[in-house]
Amino acid sequence: MIAMTGSTQRNVGLAIAGGAAIVVLACIAVLAADMIAARRQASLDDQRLEDLVELVKTDAAAAAELDAEHQRQTDKSVQRELRKTRVTWTLILAAVLFLASAKWLVSLRAQRPPTLNTSVALRAPPPTRPRKAGGDVRSHSAGGPRVSELGEQEIDLSFVDAIVAKEGCDGEAAVPILQAIQAHYGYLPDEALQRVCELTEIEPSQIAGVSAFYARFRRSPVGEHVVKVCHGTACHVTGARQITEEIRRHLRIAPEEDTDPERLFTVDRVACLGCCSLAPVMMIDEETVGRLTPGSACAALDVVRPEQPA
Ligand code: FES
Repeated sequence: MIAMTGSTQRNVGLAIAGGAAIVVLACIAVLAADMIAARRQASLDDQRLEDLVELVKTDAAAAAELDAEHQRQTDKSVQRELRKTRVTWTLILAAVLFLASAKWLVSLRAQRPPTLNTSVALRAPPPTRPRKAGGDVRSHSAGGPRVSELGEQEIDLSFVDAIVAKEGCDGEAAVPILQAIQAHYGYLPDEALQRVCELTEIEPSQIAGVSAFYARFRRSPVGEHVVKVCHGTACHVTGARQITEEIRRHLRIAPEEDTDPERLFTVDRVACLGCCSLAPVMMIDEETVGRLTPGSACAALDVVRPEQPA
């Protein structure tokens, strides 16, 4: 198979999508024109048949002409239906081709180099992890970052070495490698991403593009507890938005963040959790809490939260 560059693939995709779109429009135009013409012709044909029927009443010799007219109109109608079927199938196939090429173009966009800022962010040395005063911060993942005596998270990069050895070093391995890193650490640590760039042909720009495109990739660690607030229909109408806002305020979560400063709680909005009769509902880790009010939601979090020093 001939390897194509990204821009060639985009041009091929655009050509296919453009051609398919033209065929779709042409088919729609043919069908519309046929329909209008058929309507006009139908009234003329009806009139012609009525005239012949009247004529046959006074002149029996006109019966043959009436039969011939019947036959002509039937043949025309059959031809019209045949053409309509062919054009409809062409329209369907062109529409499918258009959608497939459009989807392909969208997937190619995911491989576009990200903005300069994102690339620079990846090349920059990793930021110092916030230290936690007292206590540690655990990760949900068994293989997640450890916490040093100073409270800083230490990333064990041997997992990255192993996954690169398993998945390979070319650009196509980017997604499986990132998925494995995300599953192992619970997010994509900067140190791990830099290690990937050192070991493979994968460019920082490609990593930035992939991790930005897939919403499931996190660039910061999750909190010790994951809180899923249901925003399905039943929960939405019974106050899910107010509950989320109150929880975020209670945990002092910054506007663009989803995790509190102590990294104890990560708050997610999720779709229906499947227990609508208890709406509004949230889950704290694996435990479901229902019939919430903003106050009771915060109280449920306080039960989980370790005692604050006086
Ligand atoms: S809508 Fe929230 S549990 Fe179903």
